[in-house]
This record gives sequence, C-alpha cells and structure tokens, in this order.
Amino acid sequence: MSHEDYLLLVQKLLKFNKEYYTLNQSSVSDHQYDTWYKQIKKYEENHPLLVSEDSPTQLIGSEPEKGFKQHAHKEPLLSLSNAFNHNDIERFLERITKETNQTKFNLSIEPKIDGCAVSIIYTNGKLSLAATRGNGRIGEIITHNIHTIASLPKTISYLDELEIRGEVYIKKSTFESMKKDFANPRNAASGALRQLDPTITKKRQLDIFIYGSNTPAYDSHTDTIDWLKNLGFPVISTNKIPGSLESVIDSIHHIESNKTAYDFEIDGTVIKIDKKSMQKQMGATAKAPKWAVAYKFPEKEVTTTLEGIEFQVGRTGVITPVAHVTPVNVSGATISRASLHNFDEIKRLNIHIGDTIIIKRAGEVIPKIVGVKTKGPSTESIEAPDHCPSCNEQSIRQIDGQIAFQCINPNCPAQIKEKIKHFCSKNAMDIEGLGDAIVDQLLQKGHIQTVADLYKLTRDDLIKLDRFAEKSTENLLSAIRASKTKPFANILFALGIPFIGEVSARLIADHYPTFESLTSATENHLMAIDQVGPKIVDTLHNTLSSSHFQSLIQDLITQGVNPTPPKEPSSQHLSGQTFVITGTLSQPRQKIESMIQDHGGKVIKSISKSTHYLLLGDSPGSKYDKATKLNNDGANIKIITENNLSDLINPSSLTN
Ligand code: IVH
Repeated sequence: MSHEDYLLLVQKLLKFNKEYYTLNQSSVSDHQYDTWYKQIKKYEENHPLLVSEDSPTQLIGSEPEKGFKQHAHKEPLLSLSNAFNHNDIERFLERITKETNQTKFNLSIEPKIDGCAVSIIYTNGKLSLAATRGNGRIGEIITHNIHTIASLPKTISYLDELEIRGEVYIKKSTFESMKKDFANPRNAASGALRQLDPTITKKRQLDIFIYGSNTPAYDSHTDTIDWLKNLGFPVISTNKIPGSLESVIDSIHHIESNKTAYDFEIDGTVIKIDKKSMQKQMGATAKAPKWAVAYKFPEKEVTTTLEGIEFQVGRTGVITPVAHVTPVNVSGATISRASLHNFDEIKRLNIHIGDTIIIKRAGEVIPKIVGVKTKGPSTESIEAPDHCPSCNEQSIRQIDGQIAFQCINPNCPAQIKEKIKHFCSKNAMDIEGLGDAIVDQLLQKGHIQTVADLYKLTRDDLIKLDRFAEKSTENLLSAIRASKTKPFANILFALGIPFIGEVSARLIADHYPTFESLTSATENHLMAIDQVGPKIVDTLHNTLSSSHFQSLIQDLITQGVNPTPPKEPSSQHLSGQTFVITGTLSQPRQKIESMIQDHGGKVIKSISKSTHYLLLGDSPGSKYDKATKLNNDGANIKIITENNLSDLINPSSLTN
C-alpha cells in the first residue's frame, strides 16, 4: 500500500468511526471495517514514523457528543482485538503462554453481543450513575436511560461501590415492531441510549447483559459472573473451558450453531483468560486488553437474481458498475443494489444478466457480489461502456491499467453534479441547505455549471425553487456567503482533486495556505511536504496546470472566495515544540490548543519519543503511561501542567 492509499484509508475509517459513534449508524460492515483496520495497522507496523495522528489506531472511539454531561471512566472501556480464523486464535493462545509462562490455563468463552457498551456504578447498593463508552475514557452520562431497563436491578444487597460493565441491546423479538425505523437492533439501542427524554428510551424496551465488573473479590471471570448473577444482574452466559485450540473451536461451533435461536444479535464470541491475575499479567494496549479476543463470525451470504447493470459516474469521472438485483432480505434489510467495484470484477466473476448470484452483506449500504450460484440463460457478456453514460462523450480512458474507466469531459453533467455536492458537503465548504434536490434543480434550471456559480446565485434564482420561501432563501444565501472565508484546507479538499482527501489537503495547506502560493509551488516543493507522495504531487500538479482548473480558481477568486489567512502567531515562544494533551483541563481543550498554536507550538494527538511536552490534566489517560515508559527508555518528554504552560508562553512572569 502506498502512503497516499494509507492516508485515504485512514480518512475513510475516520468517517465510518464518526458515523458509528456519533450518528448511531454504520454504512460499512464490521468485517469490512476490520479488514481495512488491519491493513492500516500492517502499514503502520512497517512505517512507524509515518503513522497519521488521525489514524483509527490512535483512537478508541470517538469524541463524546454535546447535550449530555460527561463522565471520566475510572478504567478505560477498551475495545477487543479481533480473530477471524483458527490461526488467529492459535496465536492468541501462544501469546498467553509466552507472556505468563503458563501452559495450562482456563479460558471463558461467551457470545459477543452486538449492542452498545455501558458502564454502571452502584453506590451504597443503589444504581447511581451510568455512562456510555464514548471515546473509551470519557463517556456520556445516561443514568436516566439505563433506569428504564426493566431487567436491571436498581438496588442491590452489595453496599460497597461497584462498577459493572455490559452491553445494552434490544431483543430480536422486540425489534420486529421497530424494523421500519432502524437498520438493526444495535442502531435502535444506541439511539435510545442517547435520548434526553427517558420516556422515549423506555418505549424501545432496552435490555442488558453484564459481562464484567471491577470487583476484586474473585480471581476468576466465571466466578465473578456467578456472583453478579446472585446479586440479581442479567449476566452473559459464560463457559469455562480449558485453554486449548480444540476446546475453543468446539465452543465457537456450539455458540455459532445456536446463533439463530438466541433472541439477541451476536456477531461472534469473546474468548477471555478466566483468571484475573493472569489477565493483569497480560495487561492491555491503549486500545484493547491482551487477555481477550473477539472471534468474529463470517459474513452472511444470500442468493438473488442479477437484473441489470447501471454505470454510475462519480465526481472524478470514474465510471463504476452497480448491479441491480431482485430485492432480497438480508439480516432484516432489503437489498436491491450490489457493488461490483470495477469491470474486471464482472469478467472475473463471469456474470450475466439473469444469473443467480451470491451477495454478501454485513451492514453495508451497498453489499458486494461474490460469485455466481447458477447460470441464467444469457451468454451475452457485459461490456464496459465505450462512452460516458451521463454525457455520451466518447472520451473515456482506462485508468489503473485495465481496472477503471474515467470520463474525461470536464463538462460531464454527472461529474458536475457530484463535484458540486462534494463541494458543499460538511467537511468541505459546509454550505448548509444545499442538499441533493436543490443542486439538481439549480443544474436543471441552468443556474449553475461550476462550483463558482454557487457564489453568483441571486435571491430571484432561489425563491423560484420548489419549497423555497424568503427565510430559506436568505439562509442559503448567507450560508454560501459564509463559506467564502473557509480555511484553504477546506477549499482544497472541496475542489475534489483526485487523491486530495481531508488529511492531504490539510498537509498541503499548512505549507501553501493560498491559491497564489500553491500555484507557484513546483513539484519538488510539493514533494518536500512530509507525508505527501508522488501520486498526490503528480495529480495536484496536473490539475493546477490545467486551463479548466485555472479558470475555475480565477472565477472563485473573482467571486470573493478568499481563504481565511492563517493567523500570525502572537509569539514564537513555543516555536518548533510539539505538545500532546491528556486529561481534563481547566478550560476547553480547543482553547488550550489554540493558545499553544498561537504561540507557534504544534498540538499532536499521539505521543512518541520525539514529542517535546505532555500537558497533563486531571485523570490523565494512557498517554501519560506511554510518556513515562518512553522517558524510562531514554526519551525526554517534559511532563507539564497548565501553570507550566503559562510560564512557557509568558516567560517574563517567571522573573516577576
Ligand atoms: S468483554 C475490554 N464480553 O464488544 C473489553 N465485551 O468489540 C472487554 N462486547 O467494547 C469486553 N459482548 O462492548 C466483552 N461478552 C462480551 C461482550 C463484549 C459484546 C462488546 C463490548 C466491547 C466490544 C468490543
């Protein structure tokens, strides 16, 4: 994988993370996510110096949302490492022996519930606080919603403080009546937990399985679960087994064969070391404990008929085949379209219209065709188009060898539409109110042909659109106006240049923060930017020198699209110094970050031996442990408080 591909994949996973953790929905299967995650991890292992600070390996979840009070978990709510096959399990067992020196040990194995992780605290025998996982360290307080779970005791006979952890879910049978509103029970549960009004949550009839607790009383996971059961908790059904590959495989088969009989969704099994003292010995990485592993079941496959192939043109002109299939139900969702990736895939699978095909889906919006089950009557091969399905242009070229086709007509309507939609999107120019339907109408009426035309729209153009009134017109015009001063990184990303994603746009804009400076940069200059490789430079250089692009930029500038100039630092006291922040600070983190940047410093997310300062707040996270470990290994990361930071910024105060 090239560095550009790595960065693109990181961006992709960032987007899915955000969807999953903050919007309660995922448009990609867990399996697909895990595969991409593994590719990222492998690349990072081979290129440790190129690890992107945006990489999902550097995060546990996502930032907590507004609207709920926050709770810092005493111990982080970690994720689980995945095993997909017997080899992965064997390696897990070998690691246990290697790190604990034990050849004989017990494991516990249990279903992996597909729900939402929560932490619940009991004080003086009363349910006193419940929080979501959030980013693993800080979650949202949702005590009012957890109170609606009928099967969860609100008072218990154990009076010391007790924290339990579990998975909130909705029974499959309960979910039946919610099917039309949610893609799956997990989405419905996650949305229910985030309601500010518990009466709405109550209607979703949430349930919970407790799978762990911090009580030190027992040295065995299975004994702890038994104890929790005796206290009245709805616990996960766990099974103690010998630590051998055969018994693990046997138990996985047992759980998997019961999968449809359970009245709750499971997506695998969790295999844990049973002895807690051994768990402690193994410890954890910043993301996941080393003493447990999640074995994921293979994805679901169904068969249906291929009815036709449609060719879609994306914003960069790349033409992709999309299969239309006879609607079929997979895990509760009706599928009528399937992805084929590219034209080679059609040849490789040797598919024809009318064939009975196998499609795989695990939560994806568009599932994938994986093979042909039985051939239909047609032998007519499906050919790649020799003209663009949108603009009819013959100017189609093959890119990436044989794989992809691209329409190179800069005036192609499909490309224009996709480009404009991308330009307005949240992470680009963030023009609220310019949705698909409006872009369609504006294009049809001939009001816009390029993104620059958006800035020429008048009140009269908009007021005539369907469902537009004075207020909506004024709002849209002011959103368009406001976008004129977006930072250059947003504009660069919004222009939809191939390979320039959000991350690369930011890297480039850090060095060339205006149109003028970027257009005067040579290829060598661009190559010198850290983490920007030849593919990006090549595409950027070609794009910048095309007359079509140059006139678009000129048009944007004429319309007043003027990136906000980077702020001059107030001082250079922190120049060249990198800062990592951990824990809760006295002011919002954003404010402290701006303060550091304002004085020439750089704030990064993950700590390494070359970090200069770790700014320590209350309840610091694992970055503190990592910094201490790196310092023990010879690094010189200065661990400072907010007061020390003020002294660095304002050194004169030290002498006063
Ligand atoms: S044990 C350090 N046991 O899966 C995490 N987790 O993908 C120890 N999950 O965050 C978790 N069923 O929310 C455990 N039987 C089970 C589980 C389970 C579902 C969830 C849990 C965790 C996620 C990781």
